Amino acid sequence: MGTDSPDSVARARRGGGKRDRRGAAPKTQGGARQRARRSGPDPQEQPRPGVTRMFAAVVPGLAALVARDLRRLPGITVTQLGFDGRSDLVLFDVERGHRDALWSLRTVEDLFVEVGQAVRAGGDRPRWIAERLWRPERVEKALSVWSAEVRPLAGSMTFRVISRVLQEKSFLRTDLRRAITEAVAAGRPKWRFADPSQLEVWVSEYQPGRLVAGLRLSDASLRQHAGREVERSGALRPTVAAQMVLLAGQPDGVLLDPCCGSGTILSEAGATGWRQVMGGDIDPAAVEIARSNAPTADVRQHDVRHLDLPDAAVAAVVSNLPFGRQFDVEGSMSAWLTAALAEMARVTRPGGRVVLLAPDIPGHAIPARLRPHDRRELRLLGTRTTLWVFERLTDR
Ligand SMILES: C[S@@+](CC[C@H](N)C(=O)[O-])C[C@H]1O[C@@H](n2cnc3c(N)ncnc32)[C@H](O)[C@@H]1O
Repeated sequence: MGTDSPDSVARARRGGGKRDRRGAAPKTQGGARQRARRSGPDPQEQPRPGVTRMFAAVVPGLAALVARDLRRLPGITVTQLGFDGRSDLVLFDVERGHRDALWSLRTVEDLFVEVGQAVRAGGDRPRWIAERLWRPERVEKALSVWSAEVRPLAGSMTFRVISRVLQEKSFLRTDLRRAITEAVAAGRPKWRFADPSQLEVWVSEYQPGRLVAGLRLSDASLRQHAGREVERSGALRPTVAAQMVLLAGQPDGVLLDPCCGSGTILSEAGATGWRQVMGGDIDPAAVEIARSNAPTADVRQHDVRHLDLPDAAVAAVVSNLPFGRQFDVEGSMSAWLTAALAEMARVTRPGGRVVLLAPDIPGHAIPARLRPHDRRELRLLGTRTTLWVFERLTDR
């Protein structure tokens, strides 16, 4: 059984777990194997024949939701969740013949094929960890997946290593990177280091004391999707916009983003099957940009607090609200949120969802017609924010 509860991710994100003075994970009776079994699969255990071990990097805070999306795909078993200090990681097994569907996931930033796993408790030195993570038979299997997904292997290739650790008490992140680089070079004397490189080896401490190594299969197009025609500052990451649209439920009717900025949510809604997509923004320049980025959406200039729409006109509202210094609102934030949420509730039909991104929404700003359904803390470019999901209740 894997430890994939949101709690385990939150613990990892906080850097939880007591450690000794060298930073090693605490030893328990029975050593590393027993500890590994308690907190996840045995890191040295080989995957079953026909199974490929993979992992996905996602925006911090989204691991549990992406794990839910992955579990809906046939042939996928999610094994563990974690956080490596920069990204959330979702580890999973893929049965033969089921890899293709992974590329349709719009909520994932990067995809990797796993090379190996190790625990610090099995020997907390960079060279020892590199030996356990980079073992020839697993490397061969991972390379065959890489060549099937990315490009055929050549005799001489360029590579680089990216390493992330949750603490640097026993060694530095760069020491681990060097040890893995040496292990790769020892097994492949014709390969040479380069940046950028054809092949990227990632090593992440995804839970305190647990490390995973993998080959990156994706490039920037997985996270950027089709890209935006016109950029505008404050634009949302497409993978987060995609997750917000999924939380709005099955496409059926109109999806509205009343503070649409450059139109990232509008594009994602179109790509996810919403046929009727509406957007608006108070800034006329944003309206122009959103129209070119999401040409099939109906985009207007408006104030979210006074929408020109009848009651219950839309099936879902999905929006990244203005906050911070970049997007000032008129008057106090609290009064602005109260008016904006009341108007969103008015135009959403009963049973519909209102999905918002905003660091804080005080309880008094939430109208009685909106029932809190889900709430997740996210980190976007190092800034904390919150994903809120409300359900529009039926009027009594
Ligand atoms: C965080 S940005 C949205 C970014 C967008 N998700 C994107 O990907 O580009 C918030 C937007 O709210 C708009 N805004 C601010 N006050 C508004 C209001 N009263 N009515 C409608 N839009 C408003 C801002 O102009 C800004 O474009």
